[in-house]
Amino acid sequence: MHDTRPVTVHPARNILGSVGVPGDKSISHRYAMLAAVAAGQSRFQNFSPGADCASTLGCVRALGSNVERDEQGAVVIDGIGPQLRSPDVPLDCGNSGSTMRMLSGLVAGQPFTTELIGDESLSRRPMRRIIEPLTRMGAQIHSTESGCAPLRITGARLHGIEYLVPVASAQVKTSLLFAGLLADGHTSVTEPMRTRDHGELALRAFGAKVDRVRNTVTIEGGQTLHPLEAYIPGDISSAAFFLCAAAVFPESNLVIDGVSLNPTRSALLDVLTAMGSRISMVRVEEQHGELLGTITLVPGTAKPVTIAGAQTALLIDELPVLAAIAPYTAGLEVRDAGELRVKESDRQSAVTQNLRAMGARIEQTDDGWRIPGGQQLHGAEIESFRDHRIAMAFAIAALRAQGETLISNSECVAISYPSFFADLEGLLER
Ligand code: S3P
Repeated sequence: MHDTRPVTVHPARNILGSVGVPGDKSISHRYAMLAAVAAGQSRFQNFSPGADCASTLGCVRALGSNVERDEQGAVVIDGIGPQLRSPDVPLDCGNSGSTMRMLSGLVAGQPFTTELIGDESLSRRPMRRIIEPLTRMGAQIHSTESGCAPLRITGARLHGIEYLVPVASAQVKTSLLFAGLLADGHTSVTEPMRTRDHGELALRAFGAKVDRVRNTVTIEGGQTLHPLEAYIPGDISSAAFFLCAAAVFPESNLVIDGVSLNPTRSALLDVLTAMGSRISMVRVEEQHGELLGTITLVPGTAKPVTIAGAQTALLIDELPVLAAIAPYTAGLEVRDAGELRVKESDRQSAVTQNLRAMGARIEQTDDGWRIPGGQQLHGAEIESFRDHRIAMAFAIAALRAQGETLISNSECVAISYPSFFADLEGLLER
């Protein structure tokens, strides 16, 4: 990505109005990958416009599926059945950990060798978490000495395994279920705590049988997927920025339409409620196992909150923005969030550094932060670390600061939410 001028964010007086957010990134990745191995043509409306999902579409194309946009802007993918085409070029996963980890599961079951590459950030992220189990299933995988990309995966006829995932990771779970779909016998994945379940729901939406007993998910190999037509709900991790902004303006009133309410993704609503906001949901419906609806948020009396354990795992992508607004709330403690260190940037340090730059008191602990409430911050120069969620989190913190804030390399928001700044502007009262 090229350097651009920093974006300047001015303080706002209030957050008011209604907005729809782009299609969910996690669901878009999974639908696109499964569409490639389905028998026939799939079509997805409201597919994520982010660069991460464009990386997945590029990879799916390189693996032999035709991918197009129709007149309505829907993504149309021609599935070629379980056996993909050997790509002539390395698969470029860009900045996307989801693309690299989940696609690894699919290419591990193919009779050819695939190379997966990524940008500087992705090339630093841990891949042993998929290399180890996929190797046990029969694939041969070569990585750097530190277990990072580029990955060279020589696929094989895989065999199912029973695997206990050491870290809570939906990407790892999904990767193994995708490999399990192509394997002989059954594959069981046990997660240490519940993570987002879009992988299981997507497999079922494409017609596969997937069973869950407590934290163990099992898939039988060799099932044929049928194609899928679906509308992808709005991404609640993108809506999170506006919801958190509204939570810290006493006169705000925010409506988010058509957003994912999948219970494994909506822990943010519980946290904002515990912090004092009043949230209601209407027009709730289910599509292909995924819940969506309209959320309204009005703020209330602020209360301190602690996030730990299983809740941390379910909120991992929302923690930067929750921490960024925490000084304006009654205080926040986050524990068990060591995974933040291995995201697109080291999000634990990025948040600490940027909150301190804005004059906040914050204690960084081994695996989280303690952030006292009732603080007034000032505008500052913010380092985005080219991490979309850090750039967006601090654009929100800037709205209630004194003075203007500059955010470096703010174009990185395009990874998940290209129109973020324009959509935010539409909700601001200055
Ligand atoms: C994702 C899972 C999470 C999350 C990421 C998307 C997914 O990563 O941080 O943005 O779609 O499965 P981990 O599986 O590494 O926790």
